[in-house]
Amino acid sequence: MNKDVVILAIETSCDETSAAVVKNGREVLSNIISSQIDIHTKFGGVVPEVASRKHIEVIDGVVKEALEEANMTFDNIDAIGVTYGPGLVGALLVGLQYGKGLSYALNKPLIGVNHIEGHISANFIEHKELEPPFICLVVSGGHTFIVYVKDHGDYEIIGQTRDDAAGEAYDKIARALGLGYPGGPKIDKLAKEGNEDAIKFPRANFHDDSLDFSFSGVKSSVLNYLNKMEMKGEEVIKADVAASFQKAVVGVLTDNVIKTCKLKKVDKIAIAGGVAANSALRESLIKEGEKIGVKVLFPPLVLCTDNAAMIGSAAYFQYIKGNTSSLDLNAKPNLKLGER
Ligand code: KG4
Ligand code: ZN
Repeated sequence: MNKDVVILAIETSCDETSAAVVKNGREVLSNIISSQIDIHTKFGGVVPEVASRKHIEVIDGVVKEALEEANMTFDNIDAIGVTYGPGLVGALLVGLQYGKGLSYALNKPLIGVNHIEGHISANFIEHKELEPPFICLVVSGGHTFIVYVKDHGDYEIIGQTRDDAAGEAYDKIARALGLGYPGGPKIDKLAKEGNEDAIKFPRANFHDDSLDFSFSGVKSSVLNYLNKMEMKGEEVIKADVAASFQKAVVGVLTDNVIKTCKLKKVDKIAIAGGVAANSALRESLIKEGEKIGVKVLFPPLVLCTDNAAMIGSAAYFQYIKGNTSSLDLNAKPNLKLGER
């Protein structure tokens, strides 16, 4: 394809309202993110109704700002990419309806994007030469997947969580430690001051050959430890708890990803999603990857957490395959990777 393809992308699946203009799937011309974190912090987590209302308030301004920063008007856009799942249904509907409205009014194609596929695609923006096949570890507040990316849009899920997502476990433990929301970055920081071998928290091991995850065991174990210490009137060293918890989580994520690389004989791991910002996870994957000649790729922090640029990248690879969506596209809160 000779002509540049410019996508206007919209993301509202959780608590960030974001719009971006992305050229040819890899070049970000703008990526505006309006975060609601301050509002949800009061409640210790995302309140769905509040999230939807806030998206409605700001989406128009966020889209206009994205166009302005990219020095573009609607005339310059080839297609509209929008997240339609998975996520909070009310939140998804705001972005989707807005995207559908634009598609209809401007008579430009609509491309429904899977949010997880968006997270994976953040790596195509940062690593201009990256092409499948590779292994992607998607770790966020809602998802934990090891994905074998065979081709653009062609995925095999190798492992996934059987209960809590990795980020969800971070957030719950942070709350129990009184660190506030979102907990991942707070535990990451505090763990640097702690002893990771201070407390032995369990790692889930399945008896089959599964590369799935379970984080509810480690979570309960940390909560039991905190209760026990309180009952005994003993002081809790929060940094040690954070470091020991993080060691258990990062250990199992790393082990399963490295096993997958050996299984699929690939030499590249990309990580994606909010927890990809975690410094211990990055260090551990790099160290273990080096041992088996596997290169580890990360998106920059702003592309790890929710943003529309990653949606614009995923939309581009659908667009060049001719995959567009009709205007009766509905929000799918439980949309699976690879499903359309
Ligand atoms: O991808 P994301 O922005 O939203 C979802 O799609 O879920 O991920 C947010 C999650 C939260 O659970 C947050 O605590 C976690 O990513 N997170 C981290 C770090 N930064 C964000 N977890 C561990 N370490 C971090 N540095
Ligand atoms: Zn996300």
